[in-house]
Amino acid sequence: MSIKIFVPQDSAALALGADVVAENVLIEAKRRGIDVTLVRNGSRGMLWLEPLVEVQTADGRMAYGPVGPEDIAGLFEANFHLGGAHTLGLGLTEEIDYLKRQERLTFARVGITDPLSLADYLALSGFQGLHKALTMAPTEIVQEVTESGLRGRGGAAFPTGIKWKTVLGTAAAQKYVVCNADEGDSGTFADRMIMEGDPFVLIEGMTIAAVAVGATQGYIYVRSEYPQAISVLNKAIDIARQGGYLGSDILGSGKAFELEVRKAAGSYVCGEETAMLESIEGKRGIVRSKPPLPAISGLFGKPTVINNVISLASVPIILDRGAAFYKDYGMGRSRGTLPFQLAGNIRQGGLIEKAFGVTLRELMVDYGGGSASGRPIKAVQVGGPLGTYLPESQWDTPLDYEAYMAMGAVVGHGGIVVHDDTADLAKLARYAMKFCAIESCGKCTPCRIGATRGVEVMDKIIANQDRPAQIELLRDLCDTMLNGSMCAMGGMTPYPVLSALEHFSQDFAQAVHEETVAGEHHV
Ligand SMILES: Cc1cc2nc3c(=O)[nH]c(=O)nc-3n(C[C@H](O)[C@H](O)[C@H](O)COP(=O)(O)O)c2cc1C
Ligand code: SF4
Repeated sequence: MSIKIFVPQDSAALALGADVVAENVLIEAKRRGIDVTLVRNGSRGMLWLEPLVEVQTADGRMAYGPVGPEDIAGLFEANFHLGGAHTLGLGLTEEIDYLKRQERLTFARVGITDPLSLADYLALSGFQGLHKALTMAPTEIVQEVTESGLRGRGGAAFPTGIKWKTVLGTAAAQKYVVCNADEGDSGTFADRMIMEGDPFVLIEGMTIAAVAVGATQGYIYVRSEYPQAISVLNKAIDIARQGGYLGSDILGSGKAFELEVRKAAGSYVCGEETAMLESIEGKRGIVRSKPPLPAISGLFGKPTVINNVISLASVPIILDRGAAFYKDYGMGRSRGTLPFQLAGNIRQGGLIEKAFGVTLRELMVDYGGGSASGRPIKAVQVGGPLGTYLPESQWDTPLDYEAYMAMGAVVGHGGIVVHDDTADLAKLARYAMKFCAIESCGKCTPCRIGATRGVEVMDKIIANQDRPAQIELLRDLCDTMLNGSMCAMGGMTPYPVLSALEHFSQDFAQAVHEETVAGEHHV
């Protein structure tokens, strides 16, 4: 009987040599006359163990990792293909603590299936949500998504059902569904993992959205740095079309939906929804003023549903299992789960899907195992480059949109970037301003001019030039950016800056101290 061996084809695993590992598995199996079926699965999200190789045994899948190309001969020698013991052995994959303690709803299939096998997808409840949606009236689908409590996972946490309701209620001959897969936040990779590891779930989610609002054309705007995701999505779209899940007559329902992948323009601000629409229309990625809302006048001036990858990929399970099932996870007004992405200076970086309510400390310590450097963790930036820096006193607050908002922080897309005690928050705050100056689309003055002036002011603060007055000026500037910017790019840049100033003021003093010491040296 053929033995199934899994070697991930996710970008993280590929970057660590998974292709050569896969090749060596086949060469070594052939040399030993062992019949092997190689499956290129998605990643399980335990990135420090990549490439994580798995073997199907009678007891379940056994994991080995991180496996290098040079380990393959030894693994076969130890009969790993039969689940044999080896120093790289990690036991049954599903029993690995990091994975076992998660609540995987959106990521239920990622790492388990062959991403391009329709049979695998169908065997694990694939397209059940779409089948159900096709039996429902559009208003019922929108109602189900609204009742689930699902809120936008791209950053703004706007209720998905409400957005769909606006598009449904706007009469037009043409409507669109656009998936925002620009994933520009620092330390984030959840969208990529879905697109590479379970593309059909995104296709299904978008098709349900289309059926709900009456859209016939969809676009997936994918970050240009994600060639693997683009390739997998294009193949999956072809397979879905051949299977009757896309096209002019979805599953014989008479409803049409076509889907196309668009390579993004490589700018952070193109992830802002209206700049993204401009970019898809072939123009420069500049933010549009609102109103009108894209739900009323979006792509090519037509009513458009815009949702993040994770929002859309969460829809099939909501339709399949029901709003009540999904809503049962989470806390307060933050319902369901969020795939948190643990990155930066962390020992066990990776993807952790958990219900809202988990704390940063649990994620960093229980899952992450502390800093990679072994030094104390000092600051954590949550929610991308425009998120605040959280000091230890805030690590026990449950990850919940409202609880984070109450302390001036954001959950955003769930990106968590960890810094140890060698981090200089004055320099990181300066970098936030610099980032905004580089990425600003230039449409409004507070952001276009403010960010450039902000860098200059930060330089003066760090160099101890008239520091108290410059700090006052910085606060004033941040106030203007917060209240006067047209979009969250300029509007949120003050978050990391002010949080650094508030919680890590010693770093600003330290920067002064170093300057003084260096200065004294030269005198
Ligand atoms: C500067 C900037 C960058 C953004 N980048 C992204 C992004 O990469 N991906 C994303 O889904 N949303 C991004 N957003 C949020 C989108 O504007 C929008 O809120 C989101 O795509 C809506 O989908 P959701 O409701 O499902 O979250 C960004 C917003 C801003 C202001
Ligand atoms: S805040 Fe910045 S990115 Fe947003 S519209 Fe204004 S200039 Fe453009």
